[in-house]
Amino acid sequence: GEIAIGIHDLSIASTEYVLTHATLAAQNGAPVGKYERGIGQLSMSVPALDEDIVTMAATAAAPIVERHGADRIRTVVFATETAVDQAKAAGIHVHSLLGLPSATRVVELKQACYGGAAGLQFAISLVHRDPAEQVLVIASDVSRYDLGSAGEATQGAAAVAMLVSAAPAVLRVEDPSGLFTADVMDFWRPNYRTTALVDGRESISAYLQAVEGTWKDYTERGGHPLGAFRAFCYHQPFTRMAHKAHHHLLNCCGREVDDAAVAHAVGHTTAYNAVIGNSYTASLFLALAALLDNADDLSEQAIGFLSYGSGAVAEFFAGRVVPGYRAHLRSAAHRAVVSRRHDIDYARYREIHEHAFPADGGHHPVPHETTGPFRLAGLSGHKRIYEPR
Ligand code: CAA
Repeated sequence: GEIAIGIHDLSIASTEYVLTHATLAAQNGAPVGKYERGIGQLSMSVPALDEDIVTMAATAAAPIVERHGADRIRTVVFATETAVDQAKAAGIHVHSLLGLPSATRVVELKQACYGGAAGLQFAISLVHRDPAEQVLVIASDVSRYDLGSAGEATQGAAAVAMLVSAAPAVLRVEDPSGLFTADVMDFWRPNYRTTALVDGRESISAYLQAVEGTWKDYTERGGHPLGAFRAFCYHQPFTRMAHKAHHHLLNCCGREVDDAAVAHAVGHTTAYNAVIGNSYTASLFLALAALLDNADDLSEQAIGFLSYGSGAVAEFFAGRVVPGYRAHLRSAAHRAVVSRRHDIDYARYREIHEHAFPADGGHHPVPHETTGPFRLAGLSGHKRIYEPR
């Protein structure tokens, strides 16, 4: 029969600093309940000056390489929408920091927050072609909006690394996928900007349309009925969005919608995103990590995944949890990713937000701030220099 392919190992990383929404609310006069209950966010990760998508990615991937070795990794797929270079794939820096073999292909993928799910699907195809190979899929992003904008409360930063292989220990990814693309300008970032532009209301309705569109295609292709799923992992730009999305899906299916049913379906999936914030491509997989780390035994249960990337592309697919998966989780390390961060005050956050490296090609060392395993050491001759800490 079909060989099982999916997630063999999964590891998350975030930043040195964290800004609470209580601090943001005290600064801008918003009621803190708007953030904590209205959008479902308690705090957001803020990268130190010597942290970025590469250092988070390498930090997430290092324990995977340590556990499984790199002998079977032939491909590194790096998904991001906050690239550090317009040409070179950020994954090459990670490949170098982790000492991966030269007989590897490395590539970067982009389609807003959908890139991580695209990377997972590409990885599955590659493993299908040669089940002896493994693919390291990394999704890493720093979400940034203008100071004082509505989007500011939905910033965050994180990376997830996943080892995709045959006979996976954690999650088997199933066919079919439900697909949806529509040309909308709900969220975008022109090449000359470091912060994203967004039409907030439009983005939420575009997301909900995509939920409907993917589910329609998924059903037409013979996917599971709604009742077959134990839980749903949604892309979470803010965690209330998962509730909105599931509410909408139940509505589309003509189901009775009550808050308890929605909470049962998405409950555990929001634990990390609520305190880390939007991590764009990584967000969907932080939802999976939170579910696996916090729910009771999910062996053989079907999990629904809805990836949404503004612009917009979405995909719905099912995964089935592999019996014995708990022995392979990194729950304690994941909780430490959240708890190790240091609170910063508004002034420090603002200083970091406004910081821009000079673009003069000169030699610019970066101050030592991160206590993580990798850092951005500096810029020199228009090149970014990374090093183990
Ligand atoms: N107590 C409890 N709840 C409160 C409250 C209070 N005191 N005050 C307000 N609220 C509720 C509001 O009722 C609202 O809930 P509903 O939507 O359920 O009605 C919620 O808090 C937010 O309030 P507003 O809509 O007034 O907030 P806002 O205008 O500041 O914007 C936002 C919120 C649109 C999410 C904005 O933060 C934003 O633009 N974020 C970036 C865009 C985004 O994340 N879009 C999501 C879909 S796009 C996507 O998924 C891709 C991606 O990653 C970007």
